Amino acid sequence: MPAPANPVQQAAMTDFIRGLPKAELHLHIEGSLEPELMLELARRNGISLPYQSIEEIRRAYAFTNLQSFLDIYYRGAGVLVHERDFYDMTWAYLKRAQADGVRHVELFFDPQTHTDRGIAFETVVTGIDRALQDGREQLGMSSGLILCFLRHLSATAAMETLEQALPFKDKLIAVGLDSSEVGHPPEKFAEVFDRARREGFLTVAHAGEEGPPEYIWGALDVLKVSRIDHGVRCVEDPRLVQRLRAGRVPLTVCPLSNVKLCVFSCLEEHNLKHLLNLGLCATVNSDDPAYFGGYITDNLVAVQQALSLDRESISQLARNAFEAAFLSREQKQTYLDELEQYLSTYSAFGPR
Ligand code: HPA
Ligand code: ZN
Repeated sequence: MPAPANPVQQAAMTDFIRGLPKAELHLHIEGSLEPELMLELARRNGISLPYQSIEEIRRAYAFTNLQSFLDIYYRGAGVLVHERDFYDMTWAYLKRAQADGVRHVELFFDPQTHTDRGIAFETVVTGIDRALQDGREQLGMSSGLILCFLRHLSATAAMETLEQALPFKDKLIAVGLDSSEVGHPPEKFAEVFDRARREGFLTVAHAGEEGPPEYIWGALDVLKVSRIDHGVRCVEDPRLVQRLRAGRVPLTVCPLSNVKLCVFSCLEEHNLKHLLNLGLCATVNSDDPAYFGGYITDNLVAVQQALSLDRESISQLARNAFEAAFLSREQKQTYLDELEQYLSTYSAFGPR
């Protein structure tokens, strides 16, 4: 257990973390649907949920592994029907993220969760994209949208989804892979990812969350990903760690998610500090904040406390995220300059 910080020092650290300019790179927009909005959309769309109240919804969020979460998460997403619903959910996230100092976000969406219920691909992508545009104009937040294939479904279904996405290529920066990991290795989607890359998409994939290091190798070698989502199990394979370090392949780590889904028994057991000490480009993200009990600042504060991370480690996590973002060299530099400005002002005037 870390030594308890004195409350004044801890409050100063929390302020420092909240104010840090941030990039969030691992955020499922359907996982930002807070119970309040879920109930409102269910009412608006005449959809019945197995919950009567916000408390009942929150009580249901006691997960034992990834699958136990996914079952509830897909059900929650069933309240999203109209373009406006996708807009409202995305806008709510962007406003929340702005309060957390997020300057740039790359968010995932799961079109198959909606198209399989008869919702048009266009409805989903247009609603999310309109909110992202408003985020750029009204909040000054840059963003990118990543289409995730559901890996528990077939490669044929993923290819059909990619084809549906092609007319909307200008609204998407990358494709990714999420949902039930174990039993669905990256190789299953080799052809879809080949096609996506030929169409000009960047690629990412969830790997090494519950799945073994081999899935991280597969994501790198077969899917040719630019980042690994989660990736915490890489430490089981020293050769893989070497590869990730040498290539500066970013890992989008989600500490509160990992504890909620029992990847680690508690935050004190989380290997984030170890990943940083190994010289890996680790970042901290919220994954599904409405389900896992915290947004990006909450994740950073919780992990800082649990692992006694110092200010330099927190600063490095923030730098890593801008380095790992799908931004031009110039855009990255602008954000990194803003971050260094914040750090120098803070160390000159802020509490130690
Ligand atoms: N892992 C896999 N699939 C997901 C996750 C996750 O953490 N969140 C939403 N879909
Ligand atoms: Zn995820």
